[in-house]
Amino acid sequence: METELLDAMAVERAAQLLREGGLVGIPTETVYGLGADGLNPAAVKRIFQVKGRPQDNPLILHIPSQDALEQYCREVPPRAYRLAEQFWPGPLTMILRRKELISDVVTAGLDTVGIRCPAHPVCLELLKRAGVPVAAPSGNTSGRPSPTTARAMLEDMAGKIDAVLDGGPCGVGVESTIIDLTVTPPRLLRPGGVTLEQLHAVIGDVAVDGAVSHIMEEWEQPRAPGMKYRHYAPKAPVTVVCGPAGSAAEYILAHAAPRDGILCFEEYAAFFSGRPFYSLGSEADYSEQARRLFESLRYFDATDVPAIWAQCPEATGLGLAVSNRLQKAAGFHIIEVTAC
Ligand code: TXA
Ligand code: MG
Repeated sequence: METELLDAMAVERAAQLLREGGLVGIPTETVYGLGADGLNPAAVKRIFQVKGRPQDNPLILHIPSQDALEQYCREVPPRAYRLAEQFWPGPLTMILRRKELISDVVTAGLDTVGIRCPAHPVCLELLKRAGVPVAAPSGNTSGRPSPTTARAMLEDMAGKIDAVLDGGPCGVGVESTIIDLTVTPPRLLRPGGVTLEQLHAVIGDVAVDGAVSHIMEEWEQPRAPGMKYRHYAPKAPVTVVCGPAGSAAEYILAHAAPRDGILCFEEYAAFFSGRPFYSLGSEADYSEQARRLFESLRYFDATDVPAIWAQCPEATGLGLAVSNRLQKAAGFHIIEVTAC
């Protein structure tokens, strides 16, 4: 199959492919998604095949506005409307009870569905024109970093899907925040573009799922099935060094082999000159770090570095999402250093 690369002007063509049961790489503000008509079980099944995704890992349904919530969800709590008012369109996925018309293929047989209204203008236009809710996981092959450009999307999916709609590089760079609103208190299943602090400010108490901070043990039941898989794993093993950035840099310099890859803050680039390194952006600029993170992991995947060492932002604001993705890439292999 030849994969068409469509520019933003060709959004109608992308909508047509979706309506016909095709698979289309779609831009969103977080990462590119691998989209299909969410009401067409045969099309949705193909998403799992081309991604190599386990069948028990449900997909997010993308809708063009808050008005579509009640079409697909039941018993929608007042909190969901408050969050939608505040953060939609935007990088927030809500887990809600689903209506029957959504296929088991989308929800992996769960009684709930993840639903989100994305903020990317090209994506919103596509959703409106397609006239169907679009089921889409991140557009990577399972186990690879999520794609944040059309080029990265093609790297994984060329020849396997009908088209990629190019909406430019993703502005957020990490996947949406996921909050489960079917439990009390609501539970953060994945940190993302909408921060925990922002959620607190709108709905008060929010619990944080264990999967955010550690690998789930066999006996633990993660509430987001996807969290039990070791995502974003680059070819080389990753060690994340947390703590004051200066001490982390010293630690890495002392322990990394000369050929190891270094993922560091811009301020420490000079420390690592002569070594393979990739700058995550400035130490305090979590937004830039989020935008660069997955590209950096793809960059090292294209090299033969035997190991990767990474500095890690603080777990506040968007820093929580960045540190979570880094730590997942490391299989939670984390070293804590203290001020030196
Ligand atoms: O930003 C994003 O959310 C991107 C873009 C394309 O929208 N999508 C994305 O999808 O990251 P995916 O499939 O890579 O991650 C969705 C996560 C998975 O961990 C999945 O297990 C969880 O959401 N999930 C989906 N439906 C769920 C449900 N009903 N209950 C609990 N977790 C759910
Ligand atoms: Mg994913």
